[in-house]
Amino acid sequence: MTPIVTLDIERWRPEVRAQDTERCARALEAGAVLVLPRLPFAIAPDETRFLDVRWSDGKAKNISLDGASIRGAVGSADDLAALARMVGRFAADASALVTALFPRYAPWLKRARTSYRPHGVTGRAMSWRKDDTRLHVDAFPSRPTRGERILRVFSNVSPQGEDRVWRVGEPFEAMARRLLPRVRPMLPGEAACLSALHVTRGRRSEYDHMMLGLHDCAKSDLGYQRASPQREVRFAPGTTWICYSDQVMHAAASGQYMLEQTTHLPLDALYDPGSSPLTILERISGRPLVDA
Ligand code: SIN
Ligand code: FE
Repeated sequence: MTPIVTLDIERWRPEVRAQDTERCARALEAGAVLVLPRLPFAIAPDETRFLDVRWSDGKAKNISLDGASIRGAVGSADDLAALARMVGRFAADASALVTALFPRYAPWLKRARTSYRPHGVTGRAMSWRKDDTRLHVDAFPSRPTRGERILRVFSNVSPQGEDRVWRVGEPFEAMARRLLPRVRPMLPGEAACLSALHVTRGRRSEYDHMMLGLHDCAKSDLGYQRASPQREVRFAPGTTWICYSDQVMHAAASGQYMLEQTTHLPLDALYDPGSSPLTILERISGRPLVDA
């Protein structure tokens, strides 16, 4: 079962002893969720107004900050600039935390999108493939990672005292051994075709194909959703948590108002590349899954 490791850290830029770094890195890279129940993201008094769904444009699933531009939000130019500052501060805090906890990662971190999720988890109609209330590992059709890791920092900023509730599932390798036989092989020329049609940004590797297949197999199989090994984890307001979301089987069950920072890391950055999804899938398949 996915381990949950609780850390008694109260600052976004903590001083961390080398032995604690080692312990946390091994746990995280082996597929644990690190939970920091005493690390709230500080919302300034004039920012509490942003804890309201009215800032969402109603079309995008989340409000997101990509570089300097805020997307998925509506409001005056001044309001949107203030909202971008709040989300940007979370991005800076989340990156500082990851760097402080895992100094080895610092030169490798590629900061990707920051999202603010004002919507409630339940009650939004969507296709099964986009339904994050079903257990899955993260894999995105248009964004091949070619084995790079997806590290995410989350923080529950609910002003109403509402927990964010997740289900977390079985370890990556157990899930992969169970579901991989059902993933269809990649067709010759498929990756080149998807890239030429701009379905993918960059070329989809066999690794990306398998990760998408595992994502889809898990989400589309209601028997798996119901009966696979899993447990509920509750993140109270003021809690921050970190996991490799390309590795941890996770599903959002309920909650509202969360911030999330995505970071990409190459395998060379890891303390133990042997526990990465790429290494595990290559071991199971007995061949390289990303061409040079
Ligand atoms: C997800 O990343 O799949 C959803 C997490 C959440 O909304 O809590
Ligand atoms: Fe996810």
